[in-house]
Amino acid sequence: MSGPGNRAQWASNLGFLLAAAGSAVGLGNIWKFPGKAYEGGGGAFILIYIAIIALVGATVMLAEFIIGRATQKNAVGAFCQLRPAWKWVGGMGIFTGFIILCYYSHVGGWVLYYLCGYLTDAAAISADPTAYFYRMLGVGSGFPWGGAGLFPLLFAALTVFVVVKGVAGGIERLNKVAMPLLFLLLILLMVRAVTLPGAMDGLRYMLQPDFSLLTWNDVLVALGQAFFSLSLGMGIMCTYGSYLSRKENLGRNVGIICTLDTLVAVLAGFTVIPAVFATLSASGVGKGAGFVFTAMPGVFQAMPGGVFWAILFYLLLFFAALTSSISLLEGTVAYLTEQRGFSRKHASLALGVILFGIGLIYTLSQGHADIHGIWLDKNGISYPIFGDMLEFLTDRLLLPLGGLLFCIFAGWVWGTKNGIAEVRQGGRFRFPLAGLWSLLVRFVAPAAIACILIAGIVFG
Ligand code: PFF
Repeated sequence: MSGPGNRAQWASNLGFLLAAAGSAVGLGNIWKFPGKAYEGGGGAFILIYIAIIALVGATVMLAEFIIGRATQKNAVGAFCQLRPAWKWVGGMGIFTGFIILCYYSHVGGWVLYYLCGYLTDAAAISADPTAYFYRMLGVGSGFPWGGAGLFPLLFAALTVFVVVKGVAGGIERLNKVAMPLLFLLLILLMVRAVTLPGAMDGLRYMLQPDFSLLTWNDVLVALGQAFFSLSLGMGIMCTYGSYLSRKENLGRNVGIICTLDTLVAVLAGFTVIPAVFATLSASGVGKGAGFVFTAMPGVFQAMPGGVFWAILFYLLLFFAALTSSISLLEGTVAYLTEQRGFSRKHASLALGVILFGIGLIYTLSQGHADIHGIWLDKNGISYPIFGDMLEFLTDRLLLPLGGLLFCIFAGWVWGTKNGIAEVRQGGRFRFPLAGLWSLLVRFVAPAAIACILIAGIVFG
């Protein structure tokens, strides 16, 4: 980023696109999405997810970009400028992003652990991927100093380092290569996964939508997943939009980012779920949180040069996770430095320590939720639902709520006239979907979010 005065700006539209897509494409697409799609019944979940992205996700993303670019401020600053009474919405978003980062950085650490595992002792992973996964979490073997303790710490330290040093520019350049590579690799892995013996059942699960299996809770999960995956509902895209020059077309950017992000998620789903059916025994199938760690090794094993592909996969996943976690930390740090007067270094370091601590409970509770007897029990403390609780609070409550408030603000409080003018820039850009966007942001998206939120919580 570079720019006149003290307000940074993306050097080009490509820089912005890469940063926004780098924030969107991450663990949400490859680690979370396949597990959620599996638990939500496969094909039906995916169709609902795509409908939500098209009708709600893209609408909210454009609203966030508009508010950010119109004010050239971070989420809290933007609301302060337009309607100060709304600044708490920005604050809520920052809180949500930080809670997400607590567990996100730990899963990033798991990726790092697998990367090192494949580099040093691939045979140990291939021998029994599920056992390897639980060993990392320390299930049955005391505190996992060398696994879920050390590697998430490394990942958090790296995130803090990048945010303190502001070397995001280098990471962005790296992303230019890493993202297309990840995309190509996913296509290759998908072809291998769906041709594994036994994968057909998985493919059928994905291609034959059975809506009778879908509950309101699944729809709410799809909504939360859409917000999570597109980095919406917490003002991060608002902040990213604020660094964008008025010479760029917001509508087109929204289309590109939503399409890319959804493609990566769906590709990952069509890779991981057939692999789950092909490689995991019935007892191993059950919880989606570990699929990318427990089922993918089976795909690598079935490929010539599998260790090479595995290293490449976890390396690219690591970069995708890092660019997303940087954006999450940057959101909170930008607030603490710009609005609260903290130094960048102190804010990043203090947040790093807190997020590692909270995330540790998440990591340990993962093992506990599946297998009893984890060390936490021996100390008389147990957090069996801590991980689920964090996800419930963020994905199913705060993100949809944040998205709803952004819609109400853009549609009713600040008004769509202002929003459409911000996109059109006095006629520089055509915005043929202006009428549709008005309808979506004022009526369809808020009503859909509110209905799904209430039905998901009340009827489950
Ligand atoms: N969208 C990222 C992913 O799918 O992995 C996660 C994320 C990044 C969520 C940034 C929220 C955010 F602000």
